[in-house]
Amino acid sequence: MSWETVQLDWNDAVATVTVDRPDALNALNEPTLEAMAEAIAEAEAKEARALVLTGAGDSAFIAGADIAHMQDLSVAEAQSWGDLGHAVADALESFPAPTIAAVNGYAFGGGCEMALACDLRVASESAVIGNTEIDLGIIPGWGATQRLPRLVGAETARRMIFLGERLDAESAAEAGLFGEVVPDEELEDVVDELASRIAAKPSVAMRTAKQSLNYSHEAPRSAALEYEKRAFASLFGTHDQREGMTAFVEDREPEFE
Ligand code: COA
Repeated sequence: MSWETVQLDWNDAVATVTVDRPDALNALNEPTLEAMAEAIAEAEAKEARALVLTGAGDSAFIAGADIAHMQDLSVAEAQSWGDLGHAVADALESFPAPTIAAVNGYAFGGGCEMALACDLRVASESAVIGNTEIDLGIIPGWGATQRLPRLVGAETARRMIFLGERLDAESAAEAGLFGEVVPDEELEDVVDELASRIAAKPSVAMRTAKQSLNYSHEAPRSAALEYEKRAFASLFGTHDQREGMTAFVEDREPEFE
């Protein structure tokens, strides 16, 4: 399926959402955010077992929220704009299956925030990432003040947000922003393989693992541990639990749903 600036492609049960606005380095304007929301909803409706988010072309993942669009927004308009960006980031974060940002170039401001909302981030060597909003006279508005410190720690997040630092891929990986940095020409294959490995795992357990990890950010530790305990127990009796354990006991490969 495709929209004017967004494509949704499938490789078996892996959905890939590609932002494609070459004239603006894939910066996010309103129609693009709306199309992303629809593409993510479509991938959820078709029960994708992993979702990849990336940018078209060689130089940009997503160069940020569209600055030309934001230039003259009123406070009320900026509020709706923030709501829209948050809704897309939330859709990635709460997507039932794991999401992977394939960061193939510039990922600034809102682009960095979309990568932060994904579960995993793999970057090409030429990727550059940062929350650069301070240099536009604003702050991150699509979740980075909450999601960035959790990944890189409070000190590094403050430095990045206060200074608008643009980190090359290696520095970002050292800071904990990227799980893996690979040569540019290998990014697509590496991400395809990672997504396929995730998609081949037991899907109910995978969804439950993601929910439990996400819940740990929302709830006090004791409630999150209680949630994990119940989520763990809920998997007993599922096809995949019986199959996974029976296959182990019978010393054969499991056949998951
Ligand atoms: N919003 C709107 N347009 C953007 C954009 C953004 N976030 N980022 C890039 N573009 C546009 C540029 O205006 C330019 O359009 P034009 O050809 O019509 O003039 C086009 O994309 C190419 O960008 P350009 O700056 O010429 O490319 P470059 O290779 O010299 O620099 C960047 C690339 C990404 C380093 C630079 O564009 C940049 O710093 N962008 C802003 C990043 C940012 O602050 N994002 C946070 C927003 S919340």
